[in-house]
Amino acid sequence: MLAVTAARISPDDPLSGLEVAERPEPAPREGWTTVAVRATSLNHHDLWTLRGVGMSEDRLPIVLGCDAAGVDEDGNEVVVHSLIGDPDFKGDETLDPRRTLLSEVHDGTFAERVAVPRRNLVPKPPGMSFEEAACLPTAYLTAYRMLFTRSGAAPGSTVLVQGAGGGVATALVAIGAAAGYRIWVTSRDEAKRARALELGAEQAFESGARLPERVDAVMETVGAATWEHSVKVLRPGGTIVTSGATSGAEPPAGLRRIFFLQLNVAGSTMGTLDELRRLIAFCDRTGVHPLVDSTYPLAGAREALAKMAAGDVFGKIVLRAG
Ligand SMILES: NC(=O)c1ccc[n+]([C@@H]2O[C@H](COP(=O)([O-])OP(=O)(O)OC[C@H]3O[C@@H](n4cnc5c(N)ncnc54)[C@H](OP(=O)(O)O)[C@@H]3O)[C@@H](O)[C@H]2O)c1
Repeated sequence: MLAVTAARISPDDPLSGLEVAERPEPAPREGWTTVAVRATSLNHHDLWTLRGVGMSEDRLPIVLGCDAAGVDEDGNEVVVHSLIGDPDFKGDETLDPRRTLLSEVHDGTFAERVAVPRRNLVPKPPGMSFEEAACLPTAYLTAYRMLFTRSGAAPGSTVLVQGAGGGVATALVAIGAAAGYRIWVTSRDEAKRARALELGAEQAFESGARLPERVDAVMETVGAATWEHSVKVLRPGGTIVTSGATSGAEPPAGLRRIFFLQLNVAGSTMGTLDELRRLIAFCDRTGVHPLVDSTYPLAGAREALAKMAAGDVFGKIVLRAG
């Protein structure tokens, strides 16, 4: 089958380690099943893997990709939950110390077929295309947990989303606006700020700009480039939810402000299978459809990843397989 693999690690030239080639079919395992992938979406995670962040040479080659929507062995249309944990772990599986995502230990979804634990399959929402549904398991699930589970901010609150163009950021704008939050965004790019307003943001600002008032919560995936601003614009007692550091994860500035204004910093990673089911129900009830920036064939993965690496994206980039 055709698959897109990380064959080598290169911190400075991640795409040099990418291979698009025939690979063996996934091997059957107890309790696992095979999904014929119809669509998969790109995440910054795929670039981190190629750069060697969270990946070691001894696990290569490995098929990239965390997200998939496709058809299971019984012909059902499904979405794949990417988080693989210990089946005996009790409670919130994002806290399982042994959890991994597809493409970290097991081959990922940038392939015509992927093997996954049977319990990780959820029905694809019938009103969504495979391309849209392929955006749910990582970016939309991460956004859902950041805002609804980790922020502590109730609907009606003012929430700032840093770096409006990204996959997680556009998901935050779409689901936050649909749930009745007053969503503000920052972006380095004027066109992306305009598009964020169309997507449901109430106001859009240049990165680092002074805001009209302090916000109740900040959604952070950018890291070093925006962190100090995030600390500055938060009201006393407010919460920064951080799930990523695209621009770097150096020690954060603003420590004094964090303790003096009793700010909260909440980490957030992916989401549970239960949250994925609720996200799908939420999209169904509110009419939210994941925002697809562009679609490429599986064989065009290099071009698609180059677009993501350049930051030339508003929404999710999707690969079509099958
Ligand atoms: N913990 C988890 O479970 C989890 C899940 C998903 C993602 N993540 C992490 O979250 C981050 C975002 O992921 P993604 O897939 O949404 O990535 P993405 O689609 O590539 O988006 C990245 C966005 O960050 C902003 N950005 C990048 N560099 C910047 C800089 N120097 N200054 C200001 N803004 C900058 C850009 O916004 P503008 O161009 O609009 O300014 C860009 O659109 C990644 O680091 C990823 O690893 C973590």
